[in-house]
Amino acid sequence: MEYPVTKSRITARNLVVRSFLLGVLILILRFVYVVTVYGGSCASDGFCFFSSSDSVGMKKVFVEDGDVPVEWRRAVDFYSDAFNKLVMDGYLSRGSKSLCVGSTFGHDVMALKIIGVEDVTAIGEKKSPPLVVSANLLNQPFGNASFDFVFVDIGVLEGSESQAELATEVSRVLKPGWFLVVHTSSCSDAYSLHSFAALFPTCRILRSGELAGSSSVVREIVLEKREDSNGIDMAKSKLGKNNECSIPETKLKAVKSMEPLIPEEPVKPWITLKKNIQNIKYLPSMVDISFKRRYVYIDVGARNYGSSIGSWFKKQYPKQNRTFEIYAIEADKTFHPEYAMKKGIKLMGFAAYVRNETLSFQVSHNPIDDDTEGKGSGMGRIQPTFGESSSSANVHSIQGFDFAEWLKNTVTEEDFVVLKMDVEGTEFDLIPMLLDTGAICLVDEFFLECHYNRWQRCCPGKRSPKYQKTYDQCLDTFSSLRNSGVLVHQWW
Ligand SMILES: *[C@@H]1O[C@H](CO)[C@@H](O)[C@H](O)[C@H]1NC(C)=O
Ligand SMILES: *[C@@H]1O[C@H](CO)[C@@H](O)[C@H](O)[C@H]1NC(C)=O
Ligand SMILES: *[C@@H]1O[C@H](CO)[C@@H](O)[C@H](O)[C@H]1NC(C)=O
Repeated sequence: MEYPVTKSRITARNLVVRSFLLGVLILILRFVYVVTVYGGSCASDGFCFFSSSDSVGMKKVFVEDGDVPVEWRRAVDFYSDAFNKLVMDGYLSRGSKSLCVGSTFGHDVMALKIIGVEDVTAIGEKKSPPLVVSANLLNQPFGNASFDFVFVDIGVLEGSESQAELATEVSRVLKPGWFLVVHTSSCSDAYSLHSFAALFPTCRILRSGELAGSSSVVREIVLEKREDSNGIDMAKSKLGKNNECSIPETKLKAVKSMEPLIPEEPVKPWITLKKNIQNIKYLPSMVDISFKRRYVYIDVGARNYGSSIGSWFKKQYPKQNRTFEIYAIEADKTFHPEYAMKKGIKLMGFAAYVRNETLSFQVSHNPIDDDTEGKGSGMGRIQPTFGESSSSANVHSIQGFDFAEWLKNTVTEEDFVVLKMDVEGTEFDLIPMLLDTGAICLVDEFFLECHYNRWQRCCPGKRSPKYQKTYDQCLDTFSSLRNSGVLVHQWW
């Protein structure tokens, strides 16, 4: 395959010029180091680049061998090696109009200059003269398609709170057909590489690999901006056309590493299912979730704050230091006042259902029914309203909403979405709907309580009369979800 950059040819003349340049560059290296570290001032008796009118009391700055510390030089060497390799592979040339995004000390800029790239601009959150100027990385002061080569240093993208915006901005200033190189400490697994790629819909990944020569892990990802990138609607999710989504290979792989399903119906489900939480292999403990637009937890059938958001999600779910937006979906009004006082939790006071419809549900206060243990008053199965039933004292009327549609309007495939669902049997209506509409593809990790006619603690040998489905039907649901690449766990 050919790239639109001229590969370098080493000729004798070239070599002489290079040696000369190298000498000059070592001088520049010192200069840059001095200016970077001493802020552009120096004492009058040293060898100076700037006037020293205001330098009383400043450190003397001599430019001699040894003034440039080993670490600084080593860092520059590391980038030079990496960039040289890019030149050899045809992704970068001396003539490339280049941009470094997020430079802190200018090692990367210096390295580009050393290997002979002349036109280099560097922007960072803080300026670091003389190499790096400060700019808003999310609104860069450049026109569309301004650069042939854009470099994003390690930590810049994964450390950003607006990864998607930064990725979009970086792609915007790159010319179609040209190259973007990102250094990162993340992306070591296929899953995170997939989410990384989703941040750059106008680019395609050419290669990804670890670089040698650094004490910490540095992964280099090379992308090319697509020639037809103007036609890609970046805001639009890939879902939607015919409600189909392709389950990425990476999800199917992750499914294989999950904890096994419990094959036999538990005799003491109140113990077995609860204990099973210790076997759960959480997705963020298997893969790197750094490259996502937002992090969202949706608790359907949230009940009171302590029942799962506070006791489990906040405390136990591994979040890789990300802040999650939390949606609590709970139709039972008894629980609503508590959520009004919780910051960062959005309450949806309606019932998740398959369409917008008024429903009736039963509030059970039956003390011997251990299904509701520790979870406050239990909610019966949601049923569409029929005239007669709404007259009963225990039957409340509530608004149900189209959960699949809501999900599609609320999150995108670029978000990391954790869904917990405990809806008293309505899962047998909701899940086919989620599959049908493709909304299930928006969910990264799914915790599902499947309600069946389980054995009861209160009354040995008696099954719960509340539900008709059997354990095998639940198992079928879990298996078929997993087979289609949904990372679903058995919730208790
Ligand atoms: C620059 O590109 C963005 C999308 O990448 C587009 O929305 C905008 O209109 C373009 N601006 C100009 C001046 O072409
Ligand atoms: C989370 O942050 C803490 C402190 O900032 C750090 O020690 C820890 O390594 C981080 N964990 C992850 C998974 O990034
Ligand atoms: C359901 O209700 C929501 C909120 O009122 C609305 O946005 C949505 O369009 C409705 N959906 C259907 C299918 O009527």
